[in-house]
Amino acid sequence: MHPLRLFGLLSHIVTLVYSQSLQTVLQDNGLTEFLQELRETDPDLLDVPAGSKLIVYAPSNEAVNGSSVIVRRDDSKDEEKKKQIARNQIHFANTIAPILRRRQSGDAGGTAAASGSVFRTLLNGSEFVNLGPGKNQSVVEKSLSGAPRPEAVFSGLGAKANVVAADIPFDGGVIRPIDQFLVLPRNLSTSLPALGLGDFKSALERTGLLETFDKATSLTILAPQNSALENSSCWWSDAKLTSALKLQVLVDFPGYTPLLKNNAKYRTLGGTSVTVVIRDNKIFVGGAEILAADAIIKNGVLHTVDRWVSAASPPSPPPIVAAATGLSLSTHHWILVVMGMAVATGFSL
Ligand SMILES: *[C@@H]1O[C@H](CO)[C@@H](O)[C@H](O)[C@H]1NC(C)=O
Ligand SMILES: *[C@@H]1O[C@H](CO)[C@@H](O)[C@H](O)[C@H]1NC(C)=O
Ligand SMILES: *[C@@H]1O[C@H](CO)[C@@H](O)[C@H](O)[C@H]1NC(C)=O
Ligand SMILES: *[C@@H]1O[C@H](CO)[C@@H](O)[C@H](O)[C@H]1NC(C)=O
Ligand SMILES: *[C@@H]1O[C@H](CO)[C@@H](O)[C@H](O)[C@H]1NC(C)=O
Repeated sequence: MHPLRLFGLLSHIVTLVYSQSLQTVLQDNGLTEFLQELRETDPDLLDVPAGSKLIVYAPSNEAVNGSSVIVRRDDSKDEEKKKQIARNQIHFANTIAPILRRRQSGDAGGTAAASGSVFRTLLNGSEFVNLGPGKNQSVVEKSLSGAPRPEAVFSGLGAKANVVAADIPFDGGVIRPIDQFLVLPRNLSTSLPALGLGDFKSALERTGLLETFDKATSLTILAPQNSALENSSCWWSDAKLTSALKLQVLVDFPGYTPLLKNNAKYRTLGGTSVTVVIRDNKIFVGGAEILAADAIIKNGVLHTVDRWVSAASPPSPPPIVAAATGLSLSTHHWILVVMGMAVATGFSL
């Protein structure tokens, strides 16, 4: 046979192998419980057009059986919710990093915080996403050991699903098997207690900021762990607490860790900017270290941090520089005021 014809035949066979529908490939690979869930909840999702480049996070049969009890008991009468659970499993393979990165004012050449990707999902129900008009919810996929392949997927309420097998191609993308369902993101009020951050929630309630934060779109919440609030929030005045809390939020930027770059600066709700520092695989934002990252919330992402974010973040992690920077900011501010007075005086002369 002519080599070119052989090549043509081979690529035809390859095409045949890969041009299998989602349904067939799920069935052939024993992911039958998830297939059944999709058939029952939103069969349209099975009609993925060929060439779509989707990632389908398929929970193993054990995972579906383990969680379907909860899904069925809670949501059996809520068809729309069941559809959203199904949609949450299907993700566009294009990373959204280039879209979000334009928000950052720091250097563009910094090192990425974590090897990972942020994906837009098909989840679009208004109860579960408020990232701005027409924007679907996201999930974060990361390699935790430094391996070149994705190892875990982070979704609502800080849930982490592990990738348990290699990708399985189908005609509309790949199936990526995982060991549990991805969890629907909830609003901040519901997420905070579930993440063990009750003291931060109380502080937000006391200052009336909780509702403001809940209703905003596209935020990064840097929630200090309970022990960080113990000695401060109870005796601070409401005004001081309010200012401190406003520094814990990055506005107009859901800062999923794969998007955070070393030395990049981000604006807080308090009007200041904070710098990201990445050192020894640890991420610091405004001097606070991220202890638990990438809990997806309805209107963005939440990271648990070890302490309050400082007003102007230090060029390197705390504690030494944090205090010094606080000082230098106020000094700087004071110099500007003095110069302003000098100019005004010059004019009057
Ligand atoms: C999951 O549950 C279904 C229905 O109850 C059952 O038929 C199936 O064998 C179970 N699969 C596994 C892997 O436990
Ligand atoms: C958002 O989700 C809907 C429904 O799941 C889907 O049809 C649409 O293509 C998605 N949009 C984007 C921009 O991802
Ligand atoms: C979600 O997407 C579907 C399909 O594109 C659309 O029919 C539905 O109206 C969208 N829902 C919302 C809340 O945008
Ligand atoms: C947050 O979500 C819960 C349900 O999870 C709901 O009862 C509550 O009203 C929501 N709060 C806000 C401010 O949207
Ligand atoms: C809070 O204050 C107590 C008593 O002064 C101290 O022992 C504890 O370490 C402090 N906790 C934090 C998180 O600073």
